[in-house]
Amino acid sequence: MNILALETSCDDTSIALIHGEDETITLTSQVHASQIDLHAVYGGIVPEIAARAHTEVIPLLLKQIYDPHNPPDAIAVTSGPGLITSLIVGVETAKTIAAIQHIPLVRVNHIEGHIYANWIHARSAITFPALALIVSGGHTELLFMKHHLEYQKIGATVDDAAGEAFDKVGKLLGLAYPGGPKISKLAEMGDPRAIQLPRPMIDSNDFQFSFSGLKTAARYYIEKHKELLDEKNVRERADFCAGFETAIIDVLAHKTYKAVLAYQPKTILLGGGVAANKKLRERFTSIIQEKTESTIILPEINLCMDNAAMIGSAGYFKARANQFSIWNEVVADPNWEL
Ligand code: KG4
Ligand code: ZN
Repeated sequence: MNILALETSCDDTSIALIHGEDETITLTSQVHASQIDLHAVYGGIVPEIAARAHTEVIPLLLKQIYDPHNPPDAIAVTSGPGLITSLIVGVETAKTIAAIQHIPLVRVNHIEGHIYANWIHARSAITFPALALIVSGGHTELLFMKHHLEYQKIGATVDDAAGEAFDKVGKLLGLAYPGGPKISKLAEMGDPRAIQLPRPMIDSNDFQFSFSGLKTAARYYIEKHKELLDEKNVRERADFCAGFETAIIDVLAHKTYKAVLAYQPKTILLGGGVAANKKLRERFTSIIQEKTESTIILPEINLCMDNAAMIGSAGYFKARANQFSIWNEVVADPNWEL
């Protein structure tokens, strides 16, 4: 089955063609336009600028990748959660193509897309039950899946998402948005034990997360150690970043490990932009391999950040399960919860 997929939930415009066969997803082609430079000066995403940029670029990207004479079996589009002004561009474009060309339409939840990134070129078979940790700029969620497309949310952040904490602390250090990849790059040269930051809720008796206290502790630490603001102090900045990154990874790894013990999944899946973090990937791989019977699957690094291929992957499984939507009933839903 061939799927055309569109993702415009935040600041990336992405269109992909994927091929699904049984449990295997192959990425046929993908085009992408990043808006990072447009938003960098504001230190975060400006919804109106994001919407305009999606609108300008989407016909150009479609023209590059899509041949209307060779239509796909279905179109998959992210219809939530995300910025309403951004979502609407992808949703209305997908509806237009679906309506004019009589192609079935599937609406995909963005978090569902991050989960299904794991199926694209997966190195081993993904078996259920599965436990997924989704860590992105907007979400930190632990989801238990007994079967395809069935989600039981067992934990989530009560305040900031993990990626949001990376980005906000990055901003305090004068790093351009998104701060996550820059902090992790600096952390490579640092000593993770040089400074101690809190690990909020690490021992709480549930699977909830909290990163706002860590962010505040990081802010106080930076205010007290002004030398961290000077780029010349590479050693100090690297140590700080390594300490901060390790605090986040400790919490994510510990909570996920506890959930693995409680739910005994056959497979652990990781997803979302923060899943591109090398240290996080290494920690998860070692804990799961050494301490549990489960198998760990990681999405390819370039499929962790927002992309349309992951939406196509989820769209394939939904189309296979006949979960289509009538095109004129599909609306962008910024608060769509799985
Ligand atoms: O999934 P994504 O592209 O967008 C959302 O759905 O939010 O995730 C973006 C987030 C940003 O917060 C970014 O800083 C973070 O992923 N991120 C990282 C890394 N790469 C991206 N955080 C830590 N380490 C990384 N290597
Ligand atoms: Zn995302």
